[in-house]
Amino acid sequence: MPAPEALAFDMYGTLVDPVGISKQLEKYLPEQAQRLAEVWRQKQLEYTFRLAAMEGYEDFEQVTRKALDYALAAVGRELRSEQRDALIARYNDLERFPDVEPGLERLKEAGYTMIVFSNGAPHMLEALMDAAELRPYFQGFVSVDEVKTYKPSPKTYRHAARRLGRPASEVMLVSSNPFDDIGAQAAGMQAAWVDRSGGLFDTLGSPPEIVVGTLTELADALE
Ligand code: LAC
Repeated sequence: MPAPEALAFDMYGTLVDPVGISKQLEKYLPEQAQRLAEVWRQKQLEYTFRLAAMEGYEDFEQVTRKALDYALAAVGRELRSEQRDALIARYNDLERFPDVEPGLERLKEAGYTMIVFSNGAPHMLEALMDAAELRPYFQGFVSVDEVKTYKPSPKTYRHAARRLGRPASEVMLVSSNPFDDIGAQAAGMQAAWVDRSGGLFDTLGSPPEIVVGTLTELADALE
């Protein structure tokens, strides 16, 4: 495997910690918060996969809203529309994980071209790049919105490589989401799995050669 020239980072769960959203849910519905968060995330992903399979597209904020409505119905609770808006707004105001700054600092010094590559809608990513203080490390971001489909459609990975001006084989996707790593590899990219929680890798594909717990470990692994 040739060393990657460019690194494309997944956003949610890889660079920024979604815990802010769970905390907000706990404020509103303490008893249902955990189940609600699980169903919400699961439905959000499922809807993106299904839209991609149907060759349809609605942006990530709409998908996230619809998934929240489903999750609320599933736990039999309601929230006022301003509470739902506040939850959606949290998506644009999350904190980066503590290893992100030292890890990205080292990777930047090592000379990698780096972008954020995400399902997030452009306006969400714009806001989050500022809120999580990510701009200094990245050339910018690529949203799947540019090709109106979702990961793991190979169109999204090929588009990210094209935006980087490189063949997919020279780009490494860095993601905490196994489905994303498998999708990137299927499209000819290299991949690194950031296993932040000692989780299980999906059995649909093999784990990438690089499996790390943090971005500082990624910098070590790529040295
Ligand atoms: C993203 C989701 C998959 O940022 O975390 O694309």
